[in-house]
Amino acid sequence: MNSQVLVIGGTGKTGSRVVQHLQKNGIEPRIGSRNANPGFDWDNKETWVKALSGIERMYVTYYPDLAVPGAKEAITSLTHLAVELGVKKMVLLSGKGETEAEACEEIVAKSGIGYTIVRASWFNQNWSESFFLDGILSGEVALPLSDVLIPFVDADDIAAVAAKVLMDDGYNGQIVEVTGPELVTFEKIVDLIAESTGRKLNLHKISLAEYVDGMKAAGLPGDVIWLIEYLFSHVLTNPENQKISHDIETILGRKAKTFAQYVADTASSGVWNQPVEA
Ligand SMILES: NC(=O)c1ccc[n+]([C@@H]2O[C@H](COP(=O)([O-])OP(=O)(O)OC[C@H]3O[C@@H](n4cnc5c(N)ncnc54)[C@H](OP(=O)(O)O)[C@@H]3O)[C@@H](O)[C@H]2O)c1
Repeated sequence: MNSQVLVIGGTGKTGSRVVQHLQKNGIEPRIGSRNANPGFDWDNKETWVKALSGIERMYVTYYPDLAVPGAKEAITSLTHLAVELGVKKMVLLSGKGETEAEACEEIVAKSGIGYTIVRASWFNQNWSESFFLDGILSGEVALPLSDVLIPFVDADDIAAVAAKVLMDDGYNGQIVEVTGPELVTFEKIVDLIAESTGRKLNLHKISLAEYVDGMKAAGLPGDVIWLIEYLFSHVLTNPENQKISHDIETILGRKAKTFAQYVADTASSGVWNQPVEA
């Protein structure tokens, strides 16, 4: 049992995979989540000391996103606490081309802690474990910017990189950029998923304003709507985010997963063929 490694968000998209990588290497990390014991809650600083006590290395995913108001303050407090408690290394998951996320990266970089930043483009798993899944399940996918080119990256690759740089101080002080190996559009993605699941998926090309209205009508919380609108209007359309990085291949010594590979793996899991709840 080795609980000197903490994975904050250890049950989430990348965190759960980081945990698996560590376990494969004989490391049993402590999970940082509201349901873990000890629990960790971003909204309750009183839980932080216990979760970080005795920890040497930590992988940090902020929830819901480093771009939301309050993230900077939370990352500042957490990083200072980590330094105070003697944590030697922190790996922060960040977003490519997000100004707010870069401000959080800088807080970590200037804190004096050993660190590596893992800066990611949009995750493939947004289609199977997050906000794009509902549209796929219903068969009606309504999205703006359906022809924008995005280097979607796989959470398996992000986690493999994160687990490696977390345990290897040779990457200290570096910003690692993780993207997929190709640029894909929403239109292409919907086609690929339809083809591999044998389902009919209708893509409705709508404006961002219509998309926001749809989220409001569906009763999504205001901060979630704000975040998604921000991601579409600032992150997705930022040309910096359309650049492909080769850091995954350099660090792991193998190619990054293609979107088609992700679709094939996910289709065979059955997640896109679940019945839709009434
Ligand atoms: N999605 C993308 O395309 C994308 C792209 C680039 C960067 N990012 C970055 O990725 C990060 C998210 O990483 P992820 O997708 O791996 O995680 P995730 O799946 O969004 O996060 C879920 C995890 O967060 C925990 N959690 C939720 N609310 C919490 C709270 N109040 N306190 C403590 N833990 C909480 C959950 O555990 P419990 O529910 O058990 O507490 C779970 O472990 C964000 O900061 C975002 O900026 C995302």
